[in-house]
Amino acid sequence: MTTVYFFLAVMFAHGNFADYRDGKELPVTSYKLKYNGEGYLFANPSICTKLLDEFADSASNFTKCSIKHARPIRLCEKCIDHYVKFRESYKNLLQTNLNGTSCETIFISHDRLEVVLNYHDNILAIWNKGNCNDCFNWTKDKPEISNKTYHFYQIFNETMQCIEENINPKENSTKVCENCMQSYIQLNNYYESLSFDRIGLDIICMDVIDSMNATRSIWSKSLNCCKLRKSPEIIFLCCSGIIACLPVLYYIMVKYCGPIKDLPNVLKQSRFKQRILRTVNGIN
Ligand SMILES: *[C@@H]1O[C@H](CO)[C@@H](O)[C@H](O)[C@H]1NC(C)=O
Ligand SMILES: *[C@@H]1O[C@H](CO)[C@@H](O)[C@H](O)[C@H]1NC(C)=O
Ligand SMILES: *[C@@H]1O[C@H](CO)[C@@H](O)[C@H](O)[C@H]1NC(C)=O
Ligand SMILES: *[C@@H]1O[C@H](CO)[C@@H](O)[C@H](O)[C@H]1NC(C)=O
Ligand SMILES: *[C@@H]1O[C@H](CO)[C@@H](O)[C@H](O)[C@H]1NC(C)=O
Ligand SMILES: *[C@@H]1O[C@H](CO)[C@@H](O)[C@H](O)[C@H]1NC(C)=O
Ligand SMILES: *[C@@H]1O[C@H](CO)[C@@H](O)[C@H](O)[C@H]1NC(C)=O
Repeated sequence: MTTVYFFLAVMFAHGNFADYRDGKELPVTSYKLKYNGEGYLFANPSICTKLLDEFADSASNFTKCSIKHARPIRLCEKCIDHYVKFRESYKNLLQTNLNGTSCETIFISHDRLEVVLNYHDNILAIWNKGNCNDCFNWTKDKPEISNKTYHFYQIFNETMQCIEENINPKENSTKVCENCMQSYIQLNNYYESLSFDRIGLDIICMDVIDSMNATRSIWSKSLNCCKLRKSPEIIFLCCSGIIACLPVLYYIMVKYCGPIKDLPNVLKQSRFKQRILRTVNGIN
């Protein structure tokens, strides 16, 4: 009987009662705590509709934000608030219960299109593919930019600022390379310390990966600064070469320079004589 009242209450609440008022038998027997044709025969519970609205807004806010920050990639950093809202609204949608019927059962798992579920999964997939969680410190109730991300961007800003100040399209880039070499090397080393592989694809958040990738590309391709680092290498290689040749030179000298050539024979002879002498003495 209570179910009938509940049913009637729902009908009144949504103004659908008029269609069924005149003597028609309500399909009460099939009315259990599950999907009941909401949206078709009856309106969706208003709470669920409201939650669905919120979810839709948060999903579109996040989508918009992530598209706007796709290049250069800043979507982790810029869209974190939208992401948190999005997760919350989805959780609310799943967990809100109306007398045993959750909003989840109304919007999810009824058709093969699965609009709600698919949008949710796609947004989550973008976020996870970018390792975005890694940019943040989640130990507090609200995620914050983690210290390592902050520190990376400090050095990154320094390097970029240095390049901007020193770059001069009319001259070659020797000056930029020399003046900014230190910041660049510091940035590169710090980046490499963040991950296990040198490219950083394993765990680092995509904002940071992309910033480093762009910096490396500017440094080596646009500015062509790597050629500066070659000169110490060339000196090193020449020195190594000379040192490697020394033993060969020594043997050549041993072979062709007279006095030294005789020396081994003298040594051999004297050692031979001594041995004979020793054996003779031993017999006596
Ligand atoms: C979506 O973004 C707009 C504008 O930034 C904001 O006013 C609104 O509260 C956001 N909605 C949700 C659900 O995050
Ligand atoms: C849930 O059921 C109770 C009675 O069992 C009813 O009073 C209440 O209005 C129902 N809530 C909703 C949201 O339908
Ligand atoms: C996160 O923040 C807390 C509090 O500021 C700090 O103690 C902790 O070390 C931070 N964790 C990381 C990974 O930065
Ligand atoms: C991270 O930064 C906060 C604030 O700047 C500081 O209190 C905290 O000690 C730092 N944590 C680590 C692990 O460096
Ligand atoms: C780096 O520069 C950007 C833009 O100039 C600024 O928004 C950001 O706060 C700076 N980050 C740090 C860590 O200084
Ligand atoms: C760059 O320009 C400076 C003078 O402005 C010159 O001394 C130097 O040799 C040039 N370097 C290259 C690699 O062209
Ligand atoms: C780095 O940048 C290059 C060219 O800009 C691109 O081809 C490459 O995929 C980027 N790498 C990563 C890890 O994003």
